[in-house]
Amino acid sequence: MNPSRDASGVWRVFDGIARRYDAVNSILSMGRDRVWRRVLANYVCDGASACVLDVATGTGEVLMSLSRHPRRPSRLVGVDMAIAMLDVAQRKDYGTLCLLARGDALCLPFPGETFDVATIAFGIRNVSDPAVALREFGRVLRPSGRLAVLEFSLPASTVLRKAYLLYFRHVLPRLGGWLAGDRAAYRYLNASVETFPFGEAFCKMIAAAGFDEVRARPMSGGIATLYTGSRRRN
Ligand SMILES: C[S@@+](CC[C@H](N)C(=O)[O-])C[C@H]1O[C@@H](n2cnc3c(N)ncnc32)[C@H](O)[C@@H]1O
Repeated sequence: MNPSRDASGVWRVFDGIARRYDAVNSILSMGRDRVWRRVLANYVCDGASACVLDVATGTGEVLMSLSRHPRRPSRLVGVDMAIAMLDVAQRKDYGTLCLLARGDALCLPFPGETFDVATIAFGIRNVSDPAVALREFGRVLRPSGRLAVLEFSLPASTVLRKAYLLYFRHVLPRLGGWLAGDRAAYRYLNASVETFPFGEAFCKMIAAAGFDEVRARPMSGGIATLYTGSRRRN
């Protein structure tokens, strides 16, 4: 049992919605969540990345995208704090060497310089100290190892942002609450996305944690962004 250093304990919310998590995600994002994870997989799977760590892996959907890629990595490791999410992940067939373990993003249970790539999708927003988590990713990456962070963001266009916020504030919490049986969880989703830094602000946070070549790639009009970077050589 890996005790959490995460003061927020937000991961506990996910134990309650684990069983319906994948289906609700697909409905609320109208299937876009899979497309976004595929874009992440295209970045990660360069044919040379042998060992990939997916943090806050949840039900293992990033691992599924990576394992289905034609240039899939030879080893996959997924960690999460929520046991019920990991239980769902355990039932999936990754068709390649894949290890799932309980682990805290703020204190990863691996020695330094273990992985070629570290990924986190829709997870960095949930940890109590994202800067500490980003530094942890840098610690477990090999020199020049790569980082990919997928996270919700807000559209740059004012019109699109207004329409999106209408859906996000009023429709999503009700629909998510009804489908997953936990309205508070989806109210939290809305509040956390609106307050989390995105775009340039989040790129600066990644660079400050020791990464170079930091880029942001907004997708679907800016409602999700893929951030990438390379671990700075010491
Ligand atoms: C929105 S889900 C994302 C799951 C998955 N990555 C995906 O793409 O669907 C967020 C996940 O972050 C996990 N989480 C939150 N805080 C964590 C922490 N400190 N360490 C590890 N996982 C954490 C939660 O348990 C949950 O499974």
